[in-house]
Amino acid sequence: MKLFIDTADIDEIRTVAGWGVLDGVTTNPSLFARTSGKTYDDVLQEICQITSGPVSAEVVAEDVDGMLREGRHFAKLADNIYVKVPMCETGLQALSRFRAEGIRTNCTLIFTANQGLLAAKAGASLLSPFVGRLDDINQDGMIVIRELVSIVEIHELDSEVLAASIRHPLHVTQAALAGAHIATLPFKVFQQMVHHPLTDQGIDQFRADWDRARRALEASARPANATSGS
Ligand code: E4P
Repeated sequence: MKLFIDTADIDEIRTVAGWGVLDGVTTNPSLFARTSGKTYDDVLQEICQITSGPVSAEVVAEDVDGMLREGRHFAKLADNIYVKVPMCETGLQALSRFRAEGIRTNCTLIFTANQGLLAAKAGASLLSPFVGRLDDINQDGMIVIRELVSIVEIHELDSEVLAASIRHPLHVTQAALAGAHIATLPFKVFQQMVHHPLTDQGIDQFRADWDRARRALEASARPANATSGS
Protein backbone atom coordinates (compact mmCIF):
# COMPACT_ATOMS: atom_id res chain seq x y z
CA MET A 1 0.00 0.00 0.00
CA LYS A 2 1.22 3.47 -0.84
CA LEU A 3 1.44 6.04 1.97
CA PHE A 4 0.77 9.72 1.33
CA ILE A 5 1.09 12.51 3.86
CA ASP A 6 -1.97 14.69 4.39
CA THR A 7 -0.44 18.13 4.95
CA ALA A 8 0.81 21.31 3.29
CA ASP A 9 3.58 21.70 5.88
CA ILE A 10 6.93 21.51 4.05
CA ASP A 11 8.93 20.44 7.13
CA GLU A 12 6.57 17.54 7.80
CA ILE A 13 6.78 16.43 4.16
CA ARG A 14 10.58 16.62 4.17
CA THR A 15 10.76 14.59 7.39
CA VAL A 16 8.64 11.71 6.12
CA ALA A 17 10.35 11.82 2.69
CA GLY A 18 13.63 11.48 4.59
CA TRP A 19 12.39 8.25 6.19
CA GLY A 20 12.08 6.79 2.66
CA VAL A 21 8.38 5.91 3.08
CA LEU A 22 6.64 8.77 1.27
CA ASP A 23 4.70 7.97 -1.92
CA GLY A 24 2.76 11.22 -2.35
CA VAL A 25 1.04 14.19 -0.72
CA THR A 26 -2.56 15.33 -0.35
CA THR A 27 -3.45 18.94 0.39
CA ASN A 28 -6.76 20.71 0.77
CA PRO A 29 -7.84 24.32 1.46
CA SER A 30 -7.97 23.70 5.23
CA LEU A 31 -4.43 22.31 5.28
CA PHE A 32 -3.19 25.21 3.12
CA ALA A 33 -4.83 27.65 5.56
CA ARG A 34 -2.46 26.35 8.28
CA THR A 35 0.58 27.56 6.28
CA SER A 36 1.64 31.20 6.10
CA GLY A 37 3.56 33.57 3.87
CA LYS A 38 3.25 31.55 0.66
CA THR A 39 0.66 31.21 -2.09
CA TYR A 40 -0.96 27.82 -2.72
CA ASP A 41 0.98 27.65 -6.01
CA ASP A 42 4.28 28.24 -4.16
CA VAL A 43 3.48 25.52 -1.64
CA LEU A 44 2.48 23.03 -4.35
CA GLN A 45 5.62 23.66 -6.38
CA GLU A 46 7.81 23.24 -3.31
CA ILE A 47 6.07 19.95 -2.46
CA CYS A 48 6.52 18.71 -6.03
CA GLN A 49 10.25 19.29 -5.71
CA ILE A 50 10.36 17.05 -2.63
CA THR A 51 8.35 14.14 -4.04
CA SER A 52 7.82 12.80 -7.55
CA GLY A 53 4.70 10.96 -6.33
CA PRO A 54 1.16 12.28 -6.80
CA VAL A 55 0.49 15.66 -5.17
CA SER A 56 -3.20 16.56 -4.81
CA ALA A 57 -4.22 20.19 -5.35
CA GLU A 58 -7.84 20.95 -4.56
CA VAL A 59 -10.12 23.22 -6.58
CA VAL A 60 -12.48 25.54 -4.69
CA ALA A 61 -14.72 26.66 -7.58
CA GLU A 62 -18.21 25.20 -7.50
CA ASP A 63 -19.02 25.54 -11.21
CA VAL A 64 -17.55 23.36 -13.94
CA ASP A 65 -15.77 26.15 -15.79
CA GLY A 66 -14.18 27.37 -12.57
CA MET A 67 -13.07 23.86 -11.62
CA LEU A 68 -11.58 23.35 -15.08
CA ARG A 69 -9.79 26.70 -14.96
CA GLU A 70 -8.28 26.02 -11.53
CA GLY A 71 -7.44 22.40 -12.34
CA ARG A 72 -5.73 23.21 -15.64
CA HIS A 73 -3.70 25.86 -13.84
CA PHE A 74 -2.61 23.38 -11.12
CA ALA A 75 -1.76 20.73 -13.72
CA LYS A 76 0.71 23.12 -15.35
CA LEU A 77 2.61 23.66 -12.09
CA ALA A 78 4.24 20.20 -12.14
CA ASP A 79 3.91 16.81 -13.85
CA ASN A 80 2.88 15.03 -10.64
CA ILE A 81 -0.09 17.24 -9.75
CA TYR A 82 -3.43 15.47 -9.32
CA VAL A 83 -6.41 17.84 -9.40
CA LYS A 84 -8.63 17.26 -6.39
CA VAL A 85 -12.32 17.66 -7.18
CA PRO A 86 -15.22 17.33 -4.71
CA MET A 87 -17.93 14.71 -5.24
CA CYS A 88 -20.93 16.60 -6.65
CA GLU A 89 -22.72 16.91 -9.98
CA THR A 90 -20.42 19.64 -11.31
CA GLY A 91 -17.46 17.73 -9.89
CA LEU A 92 -18.37 14.65 -11.94
CA GLN A 93 -18.57 16.79 -15.08
CA ALA A 94 -15.18 18.29 -14.32
CA LEU A 95 -13.66 14.84 -13.65
CA SER A 96 -14.77 13.55 -17.04
CA ARG A 97 -13.44 16.66 -18.79
CA PHE A 98 -10.11 16.34 -17.00
CA ARG A 99 -9.91 12.68 -18.03
CA ALA A 100 -10.47 13.67 -21.68
CA GLU A 101 -7.63 16.18 -21.34
CA GLY A 102 -5.26 13.66 -19.73
CA ILE A 103 -5.22 15.49 -16.38
CA ARG A 104 -5.12 13.12 -13.41
CA THR A 105 -7.59 13.63 -10.60
CA ASN A 106 -8.50 12.77 -7.03
CA CYS A 107 -12.22 12.76 -6.21
CA THR A 108 -12.57 13.95 -2.63
CA LEU A 109 -15.34 14.01 0.00
CA ILE A 110 -16.56 10.49 -0.83
CA PHE A 111 -18.73 8.98 1.89
CA THR A 112 -20.44 6.05 0.13
CA ALA A 113 -19.35 3.29 -2.22
CA ASN A 114 -21.87 4.56 -4.80
CA GLN A 115 -20.24 8.00 -4.82
CA GLY A 116 -16.92 6.25 -5.39
CA LEU A 117 -18.40 4.19 -8.23
CA LEU A 118 -19.67 7.36 -9.93
CA ALA A 119 -16.31 9.07 -9.54
CA ALA A 120 -14.51 6.06 -11.02
CA LYS A 121 -16.95 5.99 -13.97
CA ALA A 122 -16.34 9.71 -14.53
CA GLY A 123 -12.62 9.00 -14.75
CA ALA A 124 -11.16 9.91 -11.36
CA SER A 125 -7.67 8.45 -10.95
CA LEU A 126 -8.00 8.39 -7.14
CA LEU A 127 -11.13 7.88 -5.03
CA SER A 128 -10.96 9.40 -1.53
CA PRO A 129 -13.48 8.05 0.99
CA PHE A 130 -13.22 9.94 4.31
CA VAL A 131 -12.95 7.31 7.02
CA GLY A 132 -12.55 9.51 10.11
CA ARG A 133 -15.43 11.86 9.32
CA LEU A 134 -17.76 8.86 8.98
CA ASP A 135 -16.52 7.42 12.27
CA ASP A 136 -17.19 10.86 13.81
CA ILE A 137 -20.91 10.49 13.03
CA ASN A 138 -21.08 6.94 14.38
CA GLN A 139 -20.74 5.15 11.02
CA ASP A 140 -17.98 2.67 10.23
CA GLY A 141 -15.87 4.50 7.64
CA MET A 142 -13.83 1.38 6.92
CA ILE A 143 -16.91 -0.31 5.42
CA VAL A 144 -16.80 2.18 2.52
CA ILE A 145 -13.12 1.39 1.94
CA ARG A 146 -13.83 -2.35 1.85
CA GLU A 147 -16.85 -1.96 -0.47
CA LEU A 148 -15.11 0.40 -2.86
CA VAL A 149 -11.97 -1.74 -3.08
CA SER A 150 -14.19 -4.74 -3.97
CA ILE A 151 -16.12 -2.74 -6.59
CA VAL A 152 -12.90 -1.50 -8.21
CA GLU A 153 -11.49 -5.04 -8.29
CA ILE A 154 -14.66 -6.86 -9.43
CA HIS A 155 -15.29 -4.41 -12.27
CA GLU A 156 -11.63 -3.75 -13.07
CA LEU A 157 -12.10 0.00 -12.80
CA ASP A 158 -9.12 2.17 -13.60
CA SER A 159 -9.04 4.00 -10.25
CA GLU A 160 -7.25 3.57 -6.94
CA VAL A 161 -8.91 3.76 -3.53
CA LEU A 162 -7.25 6.29 -1.25
CA ALA A 163 -8.27 6.01 2.41
CA ALA A 164 -8.52 9.63 3.60
CA SER A 165 -9.44 11.35 6.85
CA ILE A 166 -7.22 8.88 8.72
CA ARG A 167 -7.11 9.69 12.42
CA HIS A 168 -4.93 7.04 14.09
CA PRO A 169 -2.59 4.10 13.37
CA LEU A 170 -5.37 1.50 13.66
CA HIS A 171 -7.10 3.15 10.69
CA VAL A 172 -3.91 2.56 8.65
CA THR A 173 -3.75 -1.14 9.53
CA GLN A 174 -7.46 -1.57 8.80
CA ALA A 175 -7.19 0.29 5.47
CA ALA A 176 -4.21 -1.86 4.46
CA LEU A 177 -6.09 -5.07 5.35
CA ALA A 178 -9.16 -3.80 3.47
CA GLY A 179 -7.03 -3.55 0.34
CA ALA A 180 -6.87 0.24 0.03
CA HIS A 181 -4.30 1.09 -2.62
CA ILE A 182 -3.25 4.24 -0.74
CA ALA A 183 -3.78 5.87 2.66
CA THR A 184 -3.09 9.52 3.35
CA LEU A 185 -2.00 10.22 6.91
CA PRO A 186 -1.43 13.29 9.04
CA PHE A 187 2.20 13.68 10.17
CA LYS A 188 1.20 12.78 13.74
CA VAL A 189 -0.08 9.37 12.61
CA PHE A 190 3.22 8.66 10.81
CA GLN A 191 5.01 9.42 14.11
CA GLN A 192 2.57 7.27 16.10
CA MET A 193 3.23 4.38 13.69
CA VAL A 194 6.98 4.58 14.30
CA HIS A 195 6.81 4.47 18.07
CA HIS A 196 5.96 1.71 20.51
CA PRO A 197 6.68 1.96 24.26
CA LEU A 198 8.58 -1.35 24.22
CA THR A 199 10.65 -0.24 21.20
CA ASP A 200 11.55 3.08 22.82
CA GLN A 201 12.26 1.37 26.16
CA GLY A 202 14.37 -1.28 24.38
CA ILE A 203 16.48 1.36 22.62
CA ASP A 204 17.15 3.12 25.96
CA GLN A 205 18.00 -0.19 27.67
CA PHE A 206 20.41 -1.30 24.91
CA ARG A 207 22.18 2.08 25.06
CA ALA A 208 22.48 1.93 28.88
CA ASP A 209 23.80 -1.66 28.80
CA TRP A 210 26.27 -0.79 26.03
CA ASP A 211 27.61 2.20 28.00
CA ARG A 212 27.93 0.12 31.18
CA ALA A 213 29.78 -2.68 29.36
CA ARG A 214 32.16 -0.18 27.73
CA ARG A 215 32.93 1.52 31.04
CA ALA A 216 33.61 -1.87 32.65
CA LEU A 217 35.93 -2.85 29.80
CA GLU A 218 37.83 0.43 30.02
CA ALA A 219 38.19 0.04 33.79
CA SER A 220 39.51 -3.52 33.47
CA ALA A 221 42.00 -2.50 30.75
CA ARG A 222 43.41 0.37 32.81
CA PRO A 223 46.79 -0.45 34.50
CA ALA A 224 46.46 -0.99 38.25
CA ASN A 225 48.79 1.95 39.08
CA ALA A 226 46.67 4.26 36.90
CA THR A 227 43.97 4.11 39.53
CA SER A 228 46.31 4.35 42.57
CA GLY A 229 47.53 7.77 41.47
CA SER A 230 51.34 6.82 41.68
C1 E4P B 1 -7.38 14.17 2.19
O1 E4P B 1 -7.33 14.16 1.00
C2 E4P B 1 -8.48 14.81 2.96
O2 E4P B 1 -8.64 16.14 2.58
C3 E4P B 1 -8.22 14.67 4.42
O3 E4P B 1 -7.76 13.37 4.68
C4 E4P B 1 -9.37 15.06 5.30
O4 E4P B 1 -9.06 14.72 6.63
P1 E4P B 1 -9.87 15.30 7.90
O5 E4P B 1 -11.23 14.65 7.92
O6 E4P B 1 -9.05 14.91 9.07
O7 E4P B 1 -9.96 16.78 7.69
